[in-house]
Order: sequence, then C-alpha cells, then structure tokens
Amino acid sequence: MKILQVSAELFPLLKTGGLADIAGAMPLALKAAGQDARVLLPGFPAIVAGVADTAPVAGFRAPWGEPALLLLGRIATPGAPDIPAYLIDAPSLYDRPGNPYEDPRHQPYGDNHRRFALLGWVAAQLAQGLDAAWRPEIVHAHDWHAALAPAYMAFAPPTGGPRVGSVFTVHNLAFQGLFAASHFAELGLPAPAFSIDGLEYHGQLSFMKGGLCFADRLTTVSPTYAREIQTPAQGCGLDGLLRSRSGVLSGILNAVDDQVWNPATDALIPHRYDPLRLAGKARCKAALQDELGLAPLADAPLFVVVSRLTEQKGLHLVLGGLDALLAQGGQLALLGSGDAVLETAFRERAAAAPRSVSVSVGYNESLAHRLFGGGDVTLVPSLFEPCGLTQMYGLKYGSLPLVHRVGGLADTVVDATLEDMADGTATGFSFVDFDADSYARAVRRAFALYRRPSDWRAVRASAMGRPADWGSAAARYLAIYAEALA
Ligand code: ADP
Ligand code: GLC
Repeated sequence: MKILQVSAELFPLLKTGGLADIAGAMPLALKAAGQDARVLLPGFPAIVAGVADTAPVAGFRAPWGEPALLLLGRIATPGAPDIPAYLIDAPSLYDRPGNPYEDPRHQPYGDNHRRFALLGWVAAQLAQGLDAAWRPEIVHAHDWHAALAPAYMAFAPPTGGPRVGSVFTVHNLAFQGLFAASHFAELGLPAPAFSIDGLEYHGQLSFMKGGLCFADRLTTVSPTYAREIQTPAQGCGLDGLLRSRSGVLSGILNAVDDQVWNPATDALIPHRYDPLRLAGKARCKAALQDELGLAPLADAPLFVVVSRLTEQKGLHLVLGGLDALLAQGGQLALLGSGDAVLETAFRERAAAAPRSVSVSVGYNESLAHRLFGGGDVTLVPSLFEPCGLTQMYGLKYGSLPLVHRVGGLADTVVDATLEDMADGTATGFSFVDFDADSYARAVRRAFALYRRPSDWRAVRASAMGRPADWGSAAARYLAIYAEALA
C-alpha cells in the first residue's frame, strides 16, 4: 500500500515531544511490514539538513498565492531502509531556526495558520497527483499541524483516479490549532468548510476539527484516551463531535522503537544491560549519580523525570511530594524544559539539596537515555496523557514507572499490588486520584517494594519484558488503512 505520513516533526531530525518519536518510527515499521511508506514534512531548517539527495518534484502556489517547491529526498537510518521524504520548500514560511511552532520569546508565529495549512494542502495535492511518479493510496495526518489534509481532500475535485483514503491521528487533543476566523479566506477552502460540521469552533477556526470531521478514520494513541476524549471532562470541547464519530475512532497504543530505545544496544548509556544481565544497570546508576553530583548511594532509590514542564505533566505533585521522597532516602533527577515557574521551583530544590536532587533544564536527548538507564523509578504523574512514551522507556529500561492512571499511562503500567505481583503482571506504580495524598501513597509503595529486593527484581523483570513492538502497532494501522479505503 502507498502510504503518506504527514507530520510537523520527526525524530531524529526535529523533535519537541513524543509526536516526533512516533512520526520517525511509524514509516520504518510500515516499511518493515512491506508497505510503500513516505513522509511529508515542512522544510524547517533541521528537516532540510537531515534529508539527503533532495531534488525538485513540482512547483506550486499556496492557496494564498505564495510560490513554493516540493522536494523529494530520503531519510537514512543505519540498519534500516531509507524513507523517501517530501519537503515543502517555502523559506518565507519555514526557514526559522529553533522551535517549529513559536519564536524565541515563546510566542506562536503569527502566520502559523499558513505554515500548517500548507502542510495539509500539499498532502492533499499529492493525493491529487502532484507527483506524477507516486500517488498515495492513504494520507495519514498527525495532530493539528497536518489536520487540514483530510479537509482539503474532502473538498478536492474528483480526479477520475482511485479514491485516496484519509486517516487522522490525535496525539494530543489539548492542542487544537485555533486561529481567528478571518484567516479562513486565505485557506482556499469552500465556504461550507467553515460550518459547525467543519472547521468552525465557537467562532474561531479549528484545524483539529478539519481532521476530526473529514478524515475517513480517526485514531488516537491509546485505547483509554480514545474513551476519555469522548467525555466532557477530557474532550476539550470536542467530545460531542468525537462521540458522533465514535464508530470510526480507534485507540492504538504507541510502540517503542527498539533501534533507539533498547538498553541492550543503546550507545547513549555508559553500560549495556538486559533483563538477564543487570550489572550494567547498577553501573549506569553509579555513573549517573557521579555525573549529576548526587551522593553515590547504590541503595538510595533514584527517581527520574524526563518531561516537558507543563501543566499537563502533573509535576506540581512531584514538587509537593519532594520532601517526603527525600525523607524516605530517595534521590530525584529531573530533565525538562518549559514553564519558567516550574523550572525555577525545581532549580531551587536542587540548589538546596544538590547531593539528593539534580535538575537539568533544557533539551538533552542523550541525558534522557542515561536517566532511564540509571533510574530506579520514572515519575509520570500527568493530569492527562494521550499515550506517554517516557513511562514506556522507563519500563524497557527497568526504571519502574510511577504514573497517574489515565490515558496511555493506564494502558501500559500495572500497579504493584500483591495480587498483580502474584500473577507476575505488575510493572510499576499507579494512583487513581490526582491529588497529593494518592501520589504520596504511590511513592511510599515504590519505597516499600524497593526495600524488598527480590520482589523489586520480579516486577522489574515483568516491566522490561513488556512487549511494545512496532510490528503489532503497524498491523493495527494497516487494518485501519484498509477500512479507510473501503
Ligand atoms: P509529550 O509528547 O506529551 O511531551 P511523551 O511522553 O509522549 O510526551 O514524549 C516525550 C518525548 O520527549 C520522549 O521521547 C522524552 O524522552 C522526550 N523529552 C521530553 N523532555 C525532554 C528533554 N528535556 N530532553 C530530552 N528529551 C525530552
Ligand atoms: C503527544 C502526547 C503524548 C503521546 C505523544 C505521541 O505529545 O502528549 O501522550 O505519547 O503525543 O503520541
């Protein structure tokens, strides 16, 4: 099947969060399943730099008249087939360094509606035959940045060729791509597209609704989140629409790219290990404590956090529970960036107790690997979490996740209760009520288990053995593609 994946970021070229990890792994997984997968990306500097052998495919004009060029190149991954990558070469829109969505003062770019409309528009043009040599059978768009692709496809004139199916995946419903309605005229969509059954959202223009209303099939990144977003509490105002489309909505759990996240082969951690040879993990912990200036205590449970510092991630619970964590003999190592208030609060805690608390502000891919490698517990107390990847990396690296039982966190972590430990299914710690007391009890459960080394080892073995392979996720997407074409 010819499949076009459309996203704004893709690991390892450009990453601000989990979307990039998934956008990078999915085409490789589809290729491994024998499919003809390509990607379409905006020509951000980091993406242009990471795509080899680009050559022009076609020139075109954006709906608002601006000329641009479609390029085709390839993304090379060691040990895997190349992924053909289309780039939108429109320097006036994309040639800006740093974060793809906002300026250096963290303000969204004023022309984001154009920058991301063009991504969806070019996807729809490819479905119409813009590249005479390759036309997709499925366009799979990710998050609001690509969400206009299904809308443009739905309103495109018939080509006479076979119908192209559209699939839209919600990675995070909280980010919807809302713009002033006055921009609608620039998008080149017919007036009926701006209706309550289209892009209109309380008088504004919602890119997310373009995907939700017009895609043939909808997916999100965990079964629990697929249910949650159909409720007023978690539907971000779109739960009614999602309920009306529940017949075409599925939750497919994200997987883990074994070429990137595998402690047995990971070149970014100082010592390799696997479930049967765990000496390397103890050495990773010692090296990490040394690197971060933490006291070199082999038996102090080391809690790690790798996260965007935002409201979503529930980190005020970690701050509020820090005294108790330290009083019980634990250490905390955090890597994150985002909210300035949270950054400062965590920095102050590290300054006050540098032998027990380490805080690294910024984005650091290799330190993230070392934290999972050296950690005992990975904290992910998110308020909501569509899927969450860090708890899955924590599982794989034997840094047991401690999570709020929502979204993908509920689908991937089994609390270490006596009965689930007896069944060999326990893989971490989870709490139900999003409050300080429930979080504190989960932390105490982690300490209690840590003080029972053979039980800890058993839970860690279950965690490290939890299947998270892309093969089964890719098979589920292929089934959805077949439905979208039917
Ligand atoms: P989200 O996409 O909501 O941020 P996920 O858990 O799905 O959450 O994915 C986060 C991804 O970003 C993971 O790959 C994680 O390791 C990475 N990450 C988050 N913050 C940082 C950071 N400060 N430095 C390096 N990697 C980070
Ligand atoms: C979003 C979500 C996160 C998910 C990621 C990849 O960023 O916040 O939960 O893991 O997308 O699907």
